[in-house]
Amino acid sequence: MCGIVGYLGNKNTTKILLEGLKELEYRGYDSAGLALLNGEDIEVYKALGKLENLREKTKNILNNSFELGIGHTRWATHGKPTELNAHPHSGQYSYIVHNGIIENYKEIKDSLLLQGHKFISQTDTEVIVHLFENINNKINDPKQAFKDTISKLKGAFSILLVTKADPNKIYFFKNGSPLIVAKGNEKQEFLFASSDAPLIGLAQNAIYLEDGVGGVVSKEELEIFSDNYIWSILPTSKQFAQKNGHRFFMEKEIYEQGDVVSDCMLGRVKDNEINFDEIDSSILDGINEIKICACGTSYHASMASAYLFERLSKIRCNVEIASEFRYKEPLLTNDTLFIVVSQSGETADTLEALKMAKNAGLKTLVVCNVNNSSMTRVANNTILTRAGIEKGVASTKAFSTQTVVLWMLSLYFAKIKSSLSKELLQKEIQALSQVPKVLVVNNKLHEKTRRLSKRYLHGHGFFFIGRDVFYPLALEGALKLKEISYLHAEGYPSGEMKHGPIALADPELFTIALMPKNSLYEKVKSNVEELSARDSTICSISPLHFELSDDFIKTNDRDHYMLEFFEMLVVLQLLSMEISIRLGNDVDMPRNLAKSVTVE
Ligand code: F6R
Repeated sequence: MCGIVGYLGNKNTTKILLEGLKELEYRGYDSAGLALLNGEDIEVYKALGKLENLREKTKNILNNSFELGIGHTRWATHGKPTELNAHPHSGQYSYIVHNGIIENYKEIKDSLLLQGHKFISQTDTEVIVHLFENINNKINDPKQAFKDTISKLKGAFSILLVTKADPNKIYFFKNGSPLIVAKGNEKQEFLFASSDAPLIGLAQNAIYLEDGVGGVVSKEELEIFSDNYIWSILPTSKQFAQKNGHRFFMEKEIYEQGDVVSDCMLGRVKDNEINFDEIDSSILDGINEIKICACGTSYHASMASAYLFERLSKIRCNVEIASEFRYKEPLLTNDTLFIVVSQSGETADTLEALKMAKNAGLKTLVVCNVNNSSMTRVANNTILTRAGIEKGVASTKAFSTQTVVLWMLSLYFAKIKSSLSKELLQKEIQALSQVPKVLVVNNKLHEKTRRLSKRYLHGHGFFFIGRDVFYPLALEGALKLKEISYLHAEGYPSGEMKHGPIALADPELFTIALMPKNSLYEKVKSNVEELSARDSTICSISPLHFELSDDFIKTNDRDHYMLEFFEMLVVLQLLSMEISIRLGNDVDMPRNLAKSVTVE
């Protein structure tokens, strides 16, 4: 995913920017670039591929006297990974780096084209710098032109802009994607980065900018165009910085789901349409059925998607655990699109299932987080989930990005097959676009799970129950809890209780009931009442108050069941983590588990 760095000061600007970009390398990128300024002298360097290529291009200027510079690593979204599309982008006299997506870039670009602006890249970013110059050319006031530019942009955008019209300054703004400004350890020194790792050791005080906050900095002064900011102390250890100030990688990964899901949707949801550049619409030619194979959390995301493929794309879909599929002598016919879902792309059972399907001549597709993994090399088609490295063994952001990719795919197929009316498709895309916001962790909700966690440290077991897509979500909630708390937990479709499991109900059986407003509320309610009547302790998660709950976690009133799904997902992840912390377990590295399961 994209990364931003910026520097203003008396040290070696090129070196600091390159080292900063190195710290962001783990996020993945396909090109990188720098703009270096000294007064009105500007030099721009861009390179495809690894940072080494950029380092090579800049090696002759390593002892430079540039006073400031901005740098970027780009993960292609709008436009292919090429040098032309790499950042920084420029107009006549200004340069910009940008993380995020400008939703209204097309309207702005069309209007600027009519006014004679020429664009050389396919990116949405280039329109920002042209818009800035267009306004500045009229008013000759760079600060006001920057503010006016920002006010015209829609979408997610964290940017650094430098301009010969106001040399020796960096303009900055944060909206959606993260951006930090820090006071350097030396006098007259300021740094920027899209996460704190590049700043460690170079600065102690920083502002983690809030959405909608920007400003301008020169050696003499940092001006913020808002009162909405506070200075924080940066962590001193890189390991801590990698956790972005969180206690565990799992916590960090839960908190970054909003951002990674935005990244995951970049370029795929635009202009109210779903597009996947990486697959061809002919993928559905001759296909009557979808079969998905996966393990663990990836299996749960796949199960949830089966409801969506049938409901939205109107394609028959079934999901199997990869280790079962391999040995059942499955009937494979080439009217089946075979999909595997995997965070690592290395899970042995899933990989073997994929090879079996490919050898049988089926069209194959992998939904995966790791590019160049074994599965991406075997499958005919790959869709990357763009979650960034997941370090916590218990999977969190992998699940949310997988589910979002599969929901997008079901809508993409619905478009190809015209299986949904235009209105319904638009409604789905509208809901989908809200997922990043829904995934932002609400502090009150986190605090509530922390307080409730003390009541759930014992007992003879947990039932996680739900219906429809909330059934796989219940399975995922139960898996999270057992993985990191070592408490016994099972997920069930709530309608199944009376067919056996309810025999276990007593006060020491904790039921975590997923009770969304927009999906079968009354049905789930009756199932929970049955458990409550048998004295099970009930913790309900719902936007609607339920009088039989012993504990109640109130979610927001949303108008689409998938938005309720993602909000409840965060609640379940936080609850398991808080229980695990209270039990004193190793949250990130639970006993007996490995991150990548490359054995059968
Ligand atoms: C659960 C978890 C595992 C994995 C499973 C599949 O938190 O991490 O259940 O989901 O081992 O791994 P991938 O997705 O890498 O194929």
